[in-house]
Amino acid sequence: MRGKLCFRRACVLVPTLLRGNAEKYHYSKHQHGNRLELTPMAKKQPPLIKIRNLSFSRGEKVIFDGVDVDIPHGKITAIMGPSGSGKTTLLKLISGQLTPESGTVEVDGQHIHELGTRQLYRLRMRMGMLFQSGALLTDLSVFDNVAYPLVEHTHLPQTMIRKLVLMKLEAVGLRGAHDLMPSELSGGMARRVALARAIALDPMMILYDEPFSGQDPISMGVLVSLIRRLNDAARMTSVIVSHDVHETASIADLIYVISEGRVIECGTPQALLNSKKPWTRQFMLAQADGPVPFHHPAPSLEADFLGES
Ligand SMILES: Nc1ncnc2c1ncn2[C@@H]1O[C@H](COP(=O)(O)OP(=O)(O)O)[C@@H](O)[C@H]1O
Ligand SMILES: [Mg+2]
Repeated sequence: MRGKLCFRRACVLVPTLLRGNAEKYHYSKHQHGNRLELTPMAKKQPPLIKIRNLSFSRGEKVIFDGVDVDIPHGKITAIMGPSGSGKTTLLKLISGQLTPESGTVEVDGQHIHELGTRQLYRLRMRMGMLFQSGALLTDLSVFDNVAYPLVEHTHLPQTMIRKLVLMKLEAVGLRGAHDLMPSELSGGMARRVALARAIALDPMMILYDEPFSGQDPISMGVLVSLIRRLNDAARMTSVIVSHDVHETASIADLIYVISEGRVIECGTPQALLNSKKPWTRQFMLAQADGPVPFHHPAPSLEADFLGES
């Protein structure tokens, strides 16, 4: 009985405590009973992630040159752009793995690059990350992979960890696979287990790096609906970086298109699909030719084939 009460309390407290300042909650009684409900106090909130005038280079190569991005609370925001445009780099700047040359990254009101190691560590615990190479620990079962962050970062008793792990696996549809080893999973299942692990600590947000790449159409569909459901059910904030236009446009509330170090355009998927800017249109509609030409610059055909100049 005591265990049950603790578990119920943990279901409310763990997410709330870990969310910290992300959303200020007050408690109100549900109108049809005594169930505690968490209600956001203020509707209009500042962005959860606020990036201002961000510049970052790798050697001679300028990756970002004065980028501003706002990631709103509770929404799915996509950062899209061609390969090599700096999407993964942006996630690493947001999570404090890289430091910008200039500009600021604020996450939940904290300037991430001014934090000490401990503060950064605490903030990172509230960021779920699903990186492209987000491999599972191959020697651990599915269950132990998802339990790992709970064992590492909390002092919860084993019985509660077990229930929380099974809840997270249930959320991604894989409770029945908890005994399997990573080598026994398909690519899509492995990504869902990694997702269950990423949400184990009930993060305030989740950063997805190319969640759809390399997936078959069915797994892709499963991931698309899973990301949307997790975002809405757990009132999470999601950031997806991707170059898969179709899938990303189908779930994002807001899209930033980046290229050559700058934000080209930002808007709803519909607005960007109807964009007047030729570059955005070429990217969103996957056109082979446009402002980014199909042909690499070359001498005229006559010059090359007939030796004429
Ligand atoms: N560790 C690194 N060292 C040097 N250059 C890198 C490193 N990681 C990425 N880059 C370069 O930075 C640019 C942006 O990379 P990345 O953020 O991975 O792009 P994207 O995720 O949009 O494909 C690329 O030109 C890439 O070659
Ligand atoms: Mg990348």
